[in-house]
Amino acid sequence: MTHPEQPGLWPENLTIVDGVWHLGEQPLTELAEQFGTPAYLLDVPGLRARAARYRRAFAEAFAPAPVQVYYAGKAFLSIAVARWMHAEGLRIDTASGGELATALAAGVPGADIGLHGNNKSDEEIDRALESGVGRIVIDSLDEIDRVEALAARRGVRAPVMVRVTTGVHAGGHEFIATAHEDQKFGLSLAGGTAAEALSRIAGRAHLELLGLHSHIGSQILDPDGFAAAARALLQLRAEHAERTGVLLGELDLGGGYGIAYLPDEAEADIATLAGSLARTCAQECERLGTPMPEFSFEPGRAIVGPSMLTLYRVGTVKPVPLDEGGARWYVSVDGGMSDNIRPALYGADYHAALVRDSTAAPVLARVVGKHCESGDIVVHQVQLPADVQAGDLLAVPATGAYGRSMASQYNLLPRPGVVAVGDGEPREIVRRETIEDILALDLG
Ligand code: LLP
Repeated sequence: MTHPEQPGLWPENLTIVDGVWHLGEQPLTELAEQFGTPAYLLDVPGLRARAARYRRAFAEAFAPAPVQVYYAGKAFLSIAVARWMHAEGLRIDTASGGELATALAAGVPGADIGLHGNNKSDEEIDRALESGVGRIVIDSLDEIDRVEALAARRGVRAPVMVRVTTGVHAGGHEFIATAHEDQKFGLSLAGGTAAEALSRIAGRAHLELLGLHSHIGSQILDPDGFAAAARALLQLRAEHAERTGVLLGELDLGGGYGIAYLPDEAEADIATLAGSLARTCAQECERLGTPMPEFSFEPGRAIVGPSMLTLYRVGTVKPVPLDEGGARWYVSVDGGMSDNIRPALYGADYHAALVRDSTAAPVLARVVGKHCESGDIVVHQVQLPADVQAGDLLAVPATGAYGRSMASQYNLLPRPGVVAVGDGEPREIVRRETIEDILALDLG
């Protein structure tokens, strides 16, 4: 039994037995027959193990300070996933009414759900209050009045945190860095709106200020940004205590932990990262003369990303001559930018492997989709055996985060389903769309 390339890139329970690729007990060829392609295959025990590992890493590193880990549902949320995360002791972080409704439909108690968003609607806020969410993360000054008014109407006290823009710039791509100054999220530390939000919230009868929040970006592999953001929040907390006499109880340090997308990449070791972050926080609290707060974290990608792969069926294979000599093999698959927009949107690199043995020499290949756009690239560059041909299965690892959740129906392609493997019989937890589904939405 061998594992293709290094662990952390492929789902934990992916194995090759006598040349046959399996996820858990299931040959990928049979899953393709049964569920069709393209399909997102979810390694359920692998997903749960990652969730448990992240929860434990933070809890152990920060002990005795209490820790909560929220799974960031934007990476990929379904009712089954919300249930598994909650069963592993994680809470659910939501960023819209749809994510909130999904977490609630999974039976996650409101108290174990958080609501984010830079432009929450009154309806979303009201639904959050109705379901008794554990926290609403305030993202602007006007939102303070809106949440207060809606909470007053319900006669409740809304638990809120303030999202602080710390000025830390981190993350894999400009679009996914979120804590530098000139962007839409949070309340500025340097500009003073964070402090202003804290004073405005103080004394409101229908708001309960839990603490401070920071999310600096996504796909971050260098731990320094997390430490810098934590120090900034602890400092703000100490200043707020000095000004008002109130020491805020909680710090949420967000998500953003990076994963491996390519065979030569490695994800950060979460136990080491959490350990060093916890030491930074303890030292900073010591320096400021304040006790450690409670902590929370919101990993999304790092939990679900490596737990899924996308299985495609190869169609057209076209060697295209290159100016510099040789050729690039354009290997077309039956999906593309509609099931993974990340290469087109962020220039993200992925890996692909042929789901069978081959002794053919490797060739330089580009895996492309079936959309009417030349930017419709699944994998920019990968070596594939020269005998790759129509009908082959191709597996692309690490597509669990922001793959299905950002999928579209571009060119009116039905979106692929998500197949859960390793939790009883394999089954779809999100149904594959059909052309009938697409026509059903079209009112003519
Ligand atoms: N918490 C907050 C407040 C966030 O905004 C995010 C992600 C997370 C947690 C989870 O971050 P993660 O651990 O998954 O990195 N579509 C982009 C990623 C956008 C991330 C947005 N916020 C991508 O595909 O790379």
